Amino acid sequence: MKLLQVEKVKKYFVHKRKVVRALDGVDLFVEEGQTSALVGESGCGKTTLAKVVVGLYPPQAGKIYLKGEEITSKRNKAFLRRNVQMVFQNPYLSLDPRCTIFFSLYEALSIFTKIKKKEAVPFLEELLKSVELPESTLWRYPHQLSGGQLQRVCIARSLINNPSLLILDEPTSALDISTTVKIIDLLLKIQEEKSVGFLFISHNLKLVKHLAWWVFVMYYGKIVEFAPKDLIYKNPLHPYTKLLLDATTLKLKDIPESTLPERGCRFFSRCPYKKDMCLKEPTLIEIENNHFLACYLKRK
Ligand SMILES: Nc1ncnc2c1ncn2[C@@H]1O[C@H](COP(=O)(O)OP(=O)(O)OP(=O)(O)O)[C@@H](O)[C@H]1O
Ligand SMILES: [Mg+2]
Repeated sequence: MKLLQVEKVKKYFVHKRKVVRALDGVDLFVEEGQTSALVGESGCGKTTLAKVVVGLYPPQAGKIYLKGEEITSKRNKAFLRRNVQMVFQNPYLSLDPRCTIFFSLYEALSIFTKIKKKEAVPFLEELLKSVELPESTLWRYPHQLSGGQLQRVCIARSLINNPSLLILDEPTSALDISTTVKIIDLLLKIQEEKSVGFLFISHNLKLVKHLAWWVFVMYYGKIVEFAPKDLIYKNPLHPYTKLLLDATTLKLKDIPESTLPERGCRFFSRCPYKKDMCLKEPTLIEIENNHFLACYLKRK
């Protein structure tokens, strides 16, 4: 059984009287204790998917299952909260600047247990050690810590109740390269020790190479290709996946939703191989063993 199973999830927003199809029938999964990476450029719907999974946005359509339980239904809210935690992009915004780290962690801890402050100290000291921070960090304020240290605190906070799934939404994008490498190493260590599943969100296909098992490539609210990591890196098939892999700067062209075709493949306007048939939307099909693609290029 999959740890997380997302099925045909839709989430539309209305922005300035226009409909934004942020998620338009997304299928995705995370296996127990493994990492699935969700990759795509800015605005393609990654954070929206994360927020739908953690229950911050209700989906318009589709179903989400965690360990086989449907978490989109209200009666499973507590189950969802116990099992799924999220780490956000910007650690500076994730912690209250007026509170010590102790207070922020204690607040999160007291959601799950009725532990007294004094008794929480040794537990939280151990927790900080598990993310390789000194115990004294407990008594600091966020402004006294570096971005990397703050993100370690956020990761520690997300682990408080031993979740089975951690959603990491671009957790290193506010950090420099060497700090990014250290955080990725830390995440790998945590995964090995605790066997927690990750949904790792990034716009950088190269970064996820170090931790992903499965890679899902998203383009404007649709998964256009997914496969185990080796297949994605050795044999990328979708023109968009190739573009992401080739991008050195990763500052790809921003195309507003209004220029997206009303029907057909959403990549149409940018695709060098487009044909008339692409005006009919390609569905995801298995092209080779475990390699799924929504594009006519490789179909016989
Ligand atoms: N609350 C909202 N109201 C209206 N539109 C929204 C809302 N949240 C997201 N959107 C729109 O939905 C689309 C997807 O946004 P989302 O934040 O999920 O993208 P993203 O892939 O996480 O981008 P980034 O890489 O920049 O974080 C965008 O067009 C965005 O403007
Ligand atoms: Mg985002």
